[in-house]
Amino acid sequence: MLPPKPLLFPSSSTTQHYPGFVGFLILIILILLFPTLTDAECHPDDQDSLLAFATNLPNLNWSAAIDCCSWDGISCDDKRDRVIGLSIPERGLRGAIPSSLQNLSSLSFLNLSYNFLSGPLPDGLFSSFNNLQTVDLSYNRLSGGLPDTLPSTLRLLNFSSNQFNGTIQPASLQSLQSLITLNISNNSFTGSIPPSICSTSPALVILDFSLNDFSGDIPQGFGACSKLEVFSLGFNSLTGKIPTDINGVLSLRQLLLPGNFLMGEISEIISNLTNLKSLVMFGNMFSGSIPRNIGKLSLLEKLELHINRLNGTLPLSLMNCTKLKLLNLGVNSLGGKLSDFDFSNFSHLTIVDLGGNNFMGVLPKTLFFCRSLTAIRLSANKLEGEISPDILELPTLSFLSLSSNSFTNIIQAFSILSSHKKLTTLLLSKNFFNEILPSAGISGFQNIKIMGLGGCKLSGQIPIWLMSLTKLEAIDLSQNNINGIIPGWLHTLPNLFYLDLSNNFLSGGFPIELTRLPALTSRQVLYQEESSHTELPIFVSPQNASYMQYNQLAILPPSLYLASNNLNGDIPVEIGNMQSIHVLDLSKNNFSGTIPSSITNLTNLEKLDLSHNLLSGEIPSSLKNLHFLSSFNVADNNLRGSIPTGAQLDTFSNESYDGNPGLCGPPLQKSCIKRTDHSSSPSPSGHKKGSDMIMILGPILGFCFGIGIILTFQTYSILSKRRILPRGVHRYFIWT
Ligand SMILES: *[C@@H]1O[C@H](CO)[C@@H](O)[C@H](O)[C@H]1NC(C)=O
Ligand SMILES: *[C@@H]1O[C@H](CO)[C@@H](O)[C@H](O)[C@H]1NC(C)=O
Ligand SMILES: *[C@@H]1O[C@H](CO)[C@@H](O)[C@H](O)[C@H]1NC(C)=O
Ligand SMILES: *[C@@H]1O[C@H](CO)[C@@H](O)[C@H](O)[C@H]1NC(C)=O
Ligand SMILES: *[C@@H]1O[C@H](CO)[C@@H](O)[C@H](O)[C@H]1NC(C)=O
Ligand SMILES: *[C@@H]1O[C@H](CO)[C@@H](O)[C@H](O)[C@H]1NC(C)=O
Ligand SMILES: *[C@@H]1O[C@H](CO)[C@@H](O)[C@H](O)[C@H]1NC(C)=O
Ligand SMILES: *[C@@H]1O[C@H](CO)[C@@H](O)[C@H](O)[C@H]1NC(C)=O
Ligand SMILES: *[C@@H]1O[C@H](CO)[C@@H](O)[C@H](O)[C@H]1NC(C)=O
Ligand SMILES: *[C@@H]1O[C@H](CO)[C@@H](O)[C@H](O)[C@H]1NC(C)=O
Ligand SMILES: *[C@@H]1O[C@H](CO)[C@@H](O)[C@H](O)[C@H]1NC(C)=O
Ligand SMILES: *[C@@H]1O[C@H](CO)[C@@H](O)[C@H](O)[C@H]1NC(C)=O
Repeated sequence: MLPPKPLLFPSSSTTQHYPGFVGFLILIILILLFPTLTDAECHPDDQDSLLAFATNLPNLNWSAAIDCCSWDGISCDDKRDRVIGLSIPERGLRGAIPSSLQNLSSLSFLNLSYNFLSGPLPDGLFSSFNNLQTVDLSYNRLSGGLPDTLPSTLRLLNFSSNQFNGTIQPASLQSLQSLITLNISNNSFTGSIPPSICSTSPALVILDFSLNDFSGDIPQGFGACSKLEVFSLGFNSLTGKIPTDINGVLSLRQLLLPGNFLMGEISEIISNLTNLKSLVMFGNMFSGSIPRNIGKLSLLEKLELHINRLNGTLPLSLMNCTKLKLLNLGVNSLGGKLSDFDFSNFSHLTIVDLGGNNFMGVLPKTLFFCRSLTAIRLSANKLEGEISPDILELPTLSFLSLSSNSFTNIIQAFSILSSHKKLTTLLLSKNFFNEILPSAGISGFQNIKIMGLGGCKLSGQIPIWLMSLTKLEAIDLSQNNINGIIPGWLHTLPNLFYLDLSNNFLSGGFPIELTRLPALTSRQVLYQEESSHTELPIFVSPQNASYMQYNQLAILPPSLYLASNNLNGDIPVEIGNMQSIHVLDLSKNNFSGTIPSSITNLTNLEKLDLSHNLLSGEIPSSLKNLHFLSSFNVADNNLRGSIPTGAQLDTFSNESYDGNPGLCGPPLQKSCIKRTDHSSSPSPSGHKKGSDMIMILGPILGFCFGIGIILTFQTYSILSKRRILPRGVHRYFIWT
């Protein structure tokens, strides 16, 4: 219990002469006071409103037996009379916000963030507060529109990460003369950005409208926000150009407009905003060149202009942005000789992504002066030459993608890079054309997790030194000229869960040892790696055209691609051991024998392709138990008998079965001579709906994606360029 406040006993000059009496008096007062202190001390109206509030929201252990000013999350004014602060974030509160809240008329600070509050705000919630300054309702599930009126005393309003919708009526913001922070990001607001906001709230410092459905042009008018530091409108559907009056906002530190449909040139006026630390405008349709005077932004730390239509060369003045940490200009039409640009002053640069452009020439030597670099992506350009030993000067480099260029001398590249101790992701696909995959003399690569060497037309065999890459999780050796057998020792790689050897000249059988790959037989191993991530994203989600990018390796589905080789013999029964596999592609080989029914044990399978082989016998009817199967192909074999039905198997078209003269029954035209006992299996009920949904969603998403992103990333390569099917319904595209 707090001691009584000395304020309550103003010392008067008369009492000083009678110390004994004063002591006695204080004692009496204390005795009298104490019981009343343990009673409610705060204003009864406030206590009532709070108790009513708590009745509606279990989890609040407030007790009427003690002063409400002492309750958890409550703060009172100096007189311990009126409640001025209510801060109860992360309390697991559920349900609607009780309207009794509005009786706390002296409230100044309200934080209900990170709960599960839902429903619309109570009517008139904000009508009776006299001094409400801070409202944080973020990370709840609140819905409905913005309140019609908001208190004029408000300084901070955070409604972000809820489900609010509707348009922003300028009238509802009209009273907010004192507003400093407005964060309504991550909701479902629609309509246009209110242009008047800066004239009504000229003191704004933070304005975050990102992750909504705002549309229309960004209006002029933000020039009036002369104190604005953060201007965030990313991931909406905004059109038009950057408003020109933004150049008046010299206070701006973060200009964040990614994921919209903005177009036109990025005007030189941007370079007048010399306080900018972050200029993030990726995922738009900006054209023209990067402002020539961008070097005036000497405080710039983040420059993200990727996925636009920018052309021209890197402006030389950019060298003056010596504080840069992140430089991402990928997927544009920038060009010129990369080595003409001097990177050497970028001592803080940690991530550089210039992939998907038209840069020419050799790797710039000055890049290797950027000693803080952890990730470099220069893939899909027109670079050439060899990888020089200077790259070892980058002690923390972890991610290197040089795919789809014309680099040469893989032997030198590997002998240099293999001694790099921090490298985890190495993507060199589509280089080194027609060279020989080094078979010996490579040791190291001790931390490599992802290696991409597809599409290089490399000859040679699968090299034994791979066996020492014990951290390896994903490797792509597809589209080369590799011959010889698939070595059984691959199963000694403890973390390997994605192996792509398709489109080579491999021969021999399916090695039984491969069915023991630890990361494909047990899920445990995978989950350990769930947190693995790459410095730059290597996946893009098809659902969100606003370029949600993923860098978590765990999103990659466990896969084995052996298609288009000369493999023969039986598919081993032991294949049923690879229980965590999601994609199994053995198509276009010479596999013979029957389809082992143990495949039924691969319950996570989403894609099974056995087409173009010499398989015979019947299709095991137990395959209907593969509930996640969304792609299935056994065309062009010698299979016979009636096509099994049930669950997922009812969802495939005749293309999955064509080219097997002995097969009959739906979906093929050819009917079976006698209806066998499979007619006794009624169509499964409950499960089917869900499975169908996967089937319907799958192609749609894949298709949307095809239109939306493949166009953009067409030239941008890849671990291997293919649509993949990860866990669940979502599909991602690897694009590195
Ligand atoms: C809130 O105040 C109104 C009148 O101002 C009163 O009728 C109501 O009972 C109060 N509610 C609570 C929970 O105190
Ligand atoms: C009420 O619960 C909070 C945690 O939610 C705890 O910190 C606080 O001590 C509790 N108060 C009382 C009076 O039990
Ligand atoms: C509200 O509480 C959360 C969680 O403690 C905190 O992160 C947030 O900063 C608080 N909001 C304000 C405006 O202080
Ligand atoms: C809400 O936004 C404000 C300003 O952006 C910020 O200070 C506060 O921490 C945010 N709340 C949470 C829970 O992030
Ligand atoms: C707005 O709130 C979100 C949380 O919902 C937070 O992530 C974001 O940083 C805030 N914006 C600003 C500019 O503070
Ligand atoms: C957006 O809101 C959702 C749900 O409220 C939350 O899970 C997600 O983390 C938020 N996103 C951001 C970027 O804050
Ligand atoms: C807002 O969402 C609710 C459902 O949560 C819906 O009924 C309402 O029509 C929406 N309002 C607008 C303006 O979109
Ligand atoms: C940049 O600002 C200066 C001084 O404020 C002004 O004279 C100049 O016209 C501005 N430049 C651009 C391109 O707006
Ligand atoms: C850049 O694109 C613009 C059109 O967006 C065009 O006018 C200009 O000629 C292009 N410049 C170069 C160097 O290709
Ligand atoms: C870089 O800045 C210096 C001085 O601040 C200036 O003299 C030089 O011209 C600038 N370089 C470029 C390329 O703009
Ligand atoms: C860039 O680095 C050079 C030395 O390489 C130095 O002379 C120059 O002053 C630096 N420029 C800036 C703007 O720091
Ligand atoms: C599936 O696996 C179980 C053990 O996990 C085994 O008993 C069974 O024989 C397997 N089924 C087939 C068809 O191989």
